[in-house]
Amino acid sequence: MPRIRVHPFDSVITAAEGTLLRDALHTAGILLDYPCGGKGRCRQCRVHVDPAPAAGKGGLKETEASDGVRLACQLPLTEDCTVTIPESRLSRKSWTQGLRDEDISTSIGSGTMRRVEIQLSPPSLEDQRADWERLSEGLARHGISAARPDSLSLERLSRILRGNEWRAEALCEENDFLWLDASERGRCYGFAVDLGTTTVDIALFDLESGERLARKAFLNGQVAFGADVISRAQSFHEDRDPVRAAALRTILEGACEILSETGISAAHIVKTVVVGNPIMIHILNGIDPYQLTHVPYIPVTAGFLRSSPRDFGWTFQENGYVETLPLVSAYGGADTIGMIVALDLEKERRTTLSIDIGTNGEIVLARQGELVATSTAAGPAFEGAQISCGMRALEGAIYDATISDNGELWLQVVGDTAPKGICGTGLIAGIAQLLERGVVDATGRIVDSAEVPLPALRARMLSRGGESVFALSDDGSVFISQNDIRKLQLAKGAVRTGIETLLEATGTSKDRLDSLRLAGNFGAGLDARAAMRIGLIPEMDLGKVQVVGNAALRGAVMVLLSRECWRKAESAARHARFVELGGKPEFQERFMESMMF
Ligand code: FES
Repeated sequence: MPRIRVHPFDSVITAAEGTLLRDALHTAGILLDYPCGGKGRCRQCRVHVDPAPAAGKGGLKETEASDGVRLACQLPLTEDCTVTIPESRLSRKSWTQGLRDEDISTSIGSGTMRRVEIQLSPPSLEDQRADWERLSEGLARHGISAARPDSLSLERLSRILRGNEWRAEALCEENDFLWLDASERGRCYGFAVDLGTTTVDIALFDLESGERLARKAFLNGQVAFGADVISRAQSFHEDRDPVRAAALRTILEGACEILSETGISAAHIVKTVVVGNPIMIHILNGIDPYQLTHVPYIPVTAGFLRSSPRDFGWTFQENGYVETLPLVSAYGGADTIGMIVALDLEKERRTTLSIDIGTNGEIVLARQGELVATSTAAGPAFEGAQISCGMRALEGAIYDATISDNGELWLQVVGDTAPKGICGTGLIAGIAQLLERGVVDATGRIVDSAEVPLPALRARMLSRGGESVFALSDDGSVFISQNDIRKLQLAKGAVRTGIETLLEATGTSKDRLDSLRLAGNFGAGLDARAAMRIGLIPEMDLGKVQVVGNAALRGAVMVLLSRECWRKAESAARHARFVELGGKPEFQERFMESMMF
């Protein structure tokens, strides 16, 4: 069995002979991005292997291969070796940087959770009602209805009732029974989860006070199965268990990490609400999303789905239920519903365009109770993936850039350290500045340096392996390449095409837009001016543009805390109309136009 020493962790892992290095790393919890789903096409999973094996070279340059570089997704392990993973390729397991708590704060407060004292008469030879039926009847006397819990909860119920002389407090959401709490005024808590294609954002709340206790983001372990939802759907269709398990495990590990940091016990977690795109929601619930990806694109189910945490193997929650929000359509997801709830779009009187930007772009036009949505596949470039020096918005990430009139470059770096890479907002800001200063033209081409008047900028225009790049860091190690610009053009072209199509489908001219909201964890640090300059959003008065953070997660939080918001989600799913982009004949032409700057 080969032993592999992994740097920079200096850890040793073992794997059965023939196991792909990718799978061995994944099993050991070492996450890299695998943008092409491990098909050997993107070469983004390059690592250094010593001694250099004969396999795993597919598509690499001769010089790289002879230096011991190999593709983790293509390398079967046959002997002991040392693997070095470049820092920039490593995905951190969790992070809090860049998450703004105010983005998910809500004024809902204590919501609709309440406690009701229950005193039951103990059983006897004359009164032989079973425990659950005895409790249900006791609850009914208080006007509380209760659905039968699973067998493990029933066993716990027996212990609670007998251990507390048949007295307990019933935790209820309005008149629905959630769970019995026999502890000394124990608290009850819940998780809100945004299950993104790339990032999983998890927040823990006190369900009675509405207080936020923790929030963390995690890389979705499903990245090993491809960067986009279509590859995930295909992988699930071929072999469902590993793909579903990766998402379940990401949430399980994330929630457990939060519980251990806050010292809260799984016994006090009674509710989890999850949002995500339709493919993520199907996979999470163990439903094959195959038909979502084939004409005529129909979800298996679009409603709320409620399960026991045990159905998911989620040991971080001992009681209550897990619920996923409804879908609008095959591509309008629970995340879109979350955004509609968070921004109260159904009540919006003005004409408002809301855009949630991530690996997918969800777009909703709201106007006097009308809700029209669409969704577009932007790819992971906005999250810093598939970009030469791309990284998440962690320490060392360039998140903003300005070029002065004399060509001096000013960078804003997370943590105020030396730059290590560039995140999505940095990429947009950087390219917007390069457009302003004539380094990049309207077609997205990095021009010939002779065409750039400022010597300070010319000095940063370099060539890497025959490709034009613009150096951001003074030592040239962090740069924007021609290929990065092309990837951004594809991503922003997809979002802009969605916007234009939606405006046309609703007969809305850009001038009639009263406001535009930019949502998403990406959106939190986005400069609206730069977004306009690259053409991601239409030109409009900057005062009308608002950056609102992760609205999908905020919607999940609101449903977690309030039955009123649950009803809003239900109403939004019934009323929202979806515009399918793929079916529009003019899509391709508009997409080509939207890629231009
Ligand atoms: S080449 Fe390995 S993930 Fe794409």
